[in-house]
Amino acid sequence: MTVVTNIDDLKQIYRRRAPKMFYDYAESGSWTEQTFRENVSDFEKIYFRQRVAVDMVNRSTKTQMIGQDVAMPVALAPVGLTGMQCADGEIKAARAAEKFGVPFTLSTMSICSIEDVAENTTQPFWFQVYTLKDDDFMRRLFERARAANCSAIVITVDLQLMGQRHKDLKNGLSAPPKLTLKSMADMMTKIHWGLGMLGTKRRFFGNIVGHAHGVKDPASLGSWTTEAFDQSLDWKRIAKFREMWGGKVIIKGILDPEDAKMAAKIGADAIIVSNHGGRQLDGALSSIRALQPILDAVGDKIEVHLDSGIRSGQDVLKAVAMGAKGTYIGRAFTYGLGAMGEAGVTKALEIIHKELDMTMALCGHRDITEVSPDILLLPEDFAGDWA
Ligand SMILES: Cc1cc2nc3c(=O)[nH]c(=O)nc-3n(C[C@H](O)[C@H](O)[C@H](O)COP(=O)(O)O)c2cc1C
Repeated sequence: MTVVTNIDDLKQIYRRRAPKMFYDYAESGSWTEQTFRENVSDFEKIYFRQRVAVDMVNRSTKTQMIGQDVAMPVALAPVGLTGMQCADGEIKAARAAEKFGVPFTLSTMSICSIEDVAENTTQPFWFQVYTLKDDDFMRRLFERARAANCSAIVITVDLQLMGQRHKDLKNGLSAPPKLTLKSMADMMTKIHWGLGMLGTKRRFFGNIVGHAHGVKDPASLGSWTTEAFDQSLDWKRIAKFREMWGGKVIIKGILDPEDAKMAAKIGADAIIVSNHGGRQLDGALSSIRALQPILDAVGDKIEVHLDSGIRSGQDVLKAVAMGAKGTYIGRAFTYGLGAMGEAGVTKALEIIHKELDMTMALCGHRDITEVSPDILLLPEDFAGDWA
């Protein structure tokens, strides 16, 4: 039995336990996967300044994201099909997050519905929406999120069309999985996963099937998704969604200072500097490399968060020291969930917290709200100067 000491250990267990189709779905980026890889490798280019003989007793990683108290500046990112990585995955991840004291964000493309998650948790969670053409459906989603007591909406703006991941096409990804000889042979070796799936009714897209016009069963979902995303999206429409919701709004998928300014202008509460975990525009900058110019442009006007590539508490500290007020983990919690269910998500959060806390201490700080860029050695080309 592996002694789990880091996020990669969870990934190795997850790889053994989840059907290949779903492991590949999470562990891939679009096209050549350059951005997917650089999201991680660019973090390694930033160094810490070690300090000694500084009192490190009584440390705190507590802070706030959009005015909400958090045990550390880390939220769970919206991840579609989480309930296929492990039965009832969204409920399990949300429970782990609430016990740890960090926000959980439910994806529109989740398996467990908004209502399922609300019924099985006690704290308000955040709900992520895509920018869809159908106003009625959007309005109903917002109503359902309000009824479920969601405390913020995350509007994902970087998916007007979907990036191509070669593995998903080759594997014939679907939820529930299509039963082919190949997929059945693979699933028969994933006994724990299979038993979990047999024991739950939640195997379809819970927020969509039976709620979107014309999507009465899982078979009609495919055509709906290709039709539903709004390629004519503009900032007026994003502002309209903000009005429709009427509460706190986080805009997810910003990589450019000009777009960050637009998000601030329409009155969003926060932005997430994100390239969707390298799943959309391959060849775009890693999020950590895109951060500084965005902070320079809007850091005093709007809360700036970051995701994509975070695999450790050290990565969280690098982003926060640069000026991000919060970070999100997508794959890091998915590995934990696929490895060990709710306990695995808790484990992922514990690992990240410990790494964050210890690194902060060794850099001479006791309070996460007081760390500054002083603790970092940042490569010059992270400042955003391009020819
Ligand atoms: C398997 C998977 C599914 C995702 N589904 C969604 C989604 O439904 N909505 C969304 O806004 N982002 C989605 N994302 C992107 C994440 O919210 C987040 O931006 C990304 O995972 C961050 O990168 P990381 O995985 O390196 O932490 C997904 C990411 C993964 C890996």
